[in-house]
Amino acid sequence: MSLPPVIAIDGPTASGKGTVASLVAQKLGFHYLDSGALYRLVALASEKQGIDSKNGPELGLLIPKLLISFSNHQIFLNGEEVTDTIRTENIGLRASVVAVHPEVRLALVDLQRSFRQSPGLVADGRDMGSVIFPDAVLKVFLTATASARAERRYKQLIAKGISAKLSDLLQDLQERDARDSSRGAAPLIIAKDAKVLETSDLSIDQAVKTVLDCYQSSIA
Ligand code: DC
Repeated sequence: MSLPPVIAIDGPTASGKGTVASLVAQKLGFHYLDSGALYRLVALASEKQGIDSKNGPELGLLIPKLLISFSNHQIFLNGEEVTDTIRTENIGLRASVVAVHPEVRLALVDLQRSFRQSPGLVADGRDMGSVIFPDAVLKVFLTATASARAERRYKQLIAKGISAKLSDLLQDLQERDARDSSRGAAPLIIAKDAKVLETSDLSIDQAVKTVLDCYQSSIA
């Protein structure tokens, strides 16, 4: 029996992949995996437990003990609702530090693959097409210039009533890009069979439509 289809959507931070991926999943009636949320949960849990973000082995041992659940657009960690808590810049930066460790990445593989359920899955992250779902029926790499991404992040934060400085956001984002791309384990790379979609000048709707069109042609 063949496995349910996967659409892998990878890209750098604030490239719009989360928004695009969840809308594509909604349109197709597919499940959705926000893999970045898992790294953010590890960042939050390890911070709470006082585990050094540089201690890969200890972080790897922590992961099987975590109780993680996604339900109705809410995320729970050990019974506590942490949907917004994991979205801060501080947790995002820490997530990119913990994600460097092979022990952490390995401990999250099976959990990520368990989201592959009928009728299909849209998964977003950094290594969905290259490592976690190499047999994805469609691999998309979303990009946008660093300044376009910083500006999007700025608008999102301001809309949520969170104060932010554009220059700081740009600097954080460049720092994370550098760390996510240069790490040894599953770095942010464009899978060789991925379709690159530059979104700086695309609306969300245009990006969603492009991905859906690509999917239709890939299964035709
Ligand atoms: O997509 P995001 O900003 O929520 O991800 C937070 C961090 O998690 C990101 O800086 C790197 C890491 N990450 C990863 O290494 N691999 C993934 N598949 C997803 C996220």
